[in-house]
Amino acid sequence: MDVAGRTALVTGGAKRLGSHIVAALAQSGANVAVHYNTSAHEAEDVVASVEAAGRRSMAVQADIADPDAIGVMVSAVEQEFGSVDVLVNSASSFAPDPFPTKDHSIWLRTFDVLVHGPYYLANAVAPGMLTRGEGVIINIVDLSAWHPWPDRGAHSVAKAALLALTRQLAVELAPSARANAIAPGPTIPAESFDDAQIDRLAKRNLLGRWGGPDGVVNAVRYLVESDFVTGDCLTVDGGERWGHVRQRFAD
Ligand SMILES: NC(=O)c1ccc[n+]([C@@H]2O[C@H](COP(=O)([O-])OP(=O)(O)OC[C@H]3O[C@@H](n4cnc5c(N)ncnc54)[C@H](OP(=O)(O)O)[C@@H]3O)[C@@H](O)[C@H]2O)c1
Repeated sequence: MDVAGRTALVTGGAKRLGSHIVAALAQSGANVAVHYNTSAHEAEDVVASVEAAGRRSMAVQADIADPDAIGVMVSAVEQEFGSVDVLVNSASSFAPDPFPTKDHSIWLRTFDVLVHGPYYLANAVAPGMLTRGEGVIINIVDLSAWHPWPDRGAHSVAKAALLALTRQLAVELAPSARANAIAPGPTIPAESFDDAQIDRLAKRNLLGRWGGPDGVVNAVRYLVESDFVTGDCLTVDGGERWGHVRQRFAD
């Protein structure tokens, strides 16, 4: 799909990776709705930078765990820009949840944000895509979709579910629209990470470094433009999946 003049909606678009995805879609000519939950000021800054690049933009707020809020948000975007042609589900949480536990709230909240939110969003934009006979949904997962991460059970199982949802959407929307996923490796360190943690995580992949946003942004462009790719997942991880192999031979 050529996104020039089309409408894109990026969740978690106010900051970090989401804001780079917004910038890339605007650079390709899309009008971009910038979703945020709590980062209103940052969202306004991103909107201003899209408008400065000559495209239309708007900031839209919603807790993606709330289906009613999703409905209101998608209607607002459609009213302003027309139907959503490209949906990128980048918003996420990363809460630790030790197991076993008597407190199920983190598990439930993680599924609400990582799985139910993207499902509500896909459900809200799908009718327009099916009517127009085209559209692209991109879900951002991570390597925990395949490799369970200790103390991150909810996150890992939810990302695996989001990858499964991606494949399911590809089947449900075909042949009109497409759905794909991207699994980044270490891309932008969390603000809470210290230097030792950042260094340790870099060493886990074959290239021995953090990737920065460009690889993921390029993957978004590829998946939007490639009309014969659906139900797939692109990993942009510096070879982190194979880092353990190098380590085993080094030991
Ligand atoms: N950063 C990396 O190195 C890395 C690596 C692998 C995969 N990923 C994946 O790439 C995506 C982006 O990563 P990131 O590090 O940029 O993300 P992030 O900073 O952890 O989160 C992005 C945004 O998600 C939004 N969010 C959280 N809970 C929400 C809710 N209930 N409703 C609506 N929005 C909510 C927040 O918006 P507000 O600030 O507006 O509240 C936040 O700014 C995520 O899916 C992540 O799992 C990232």
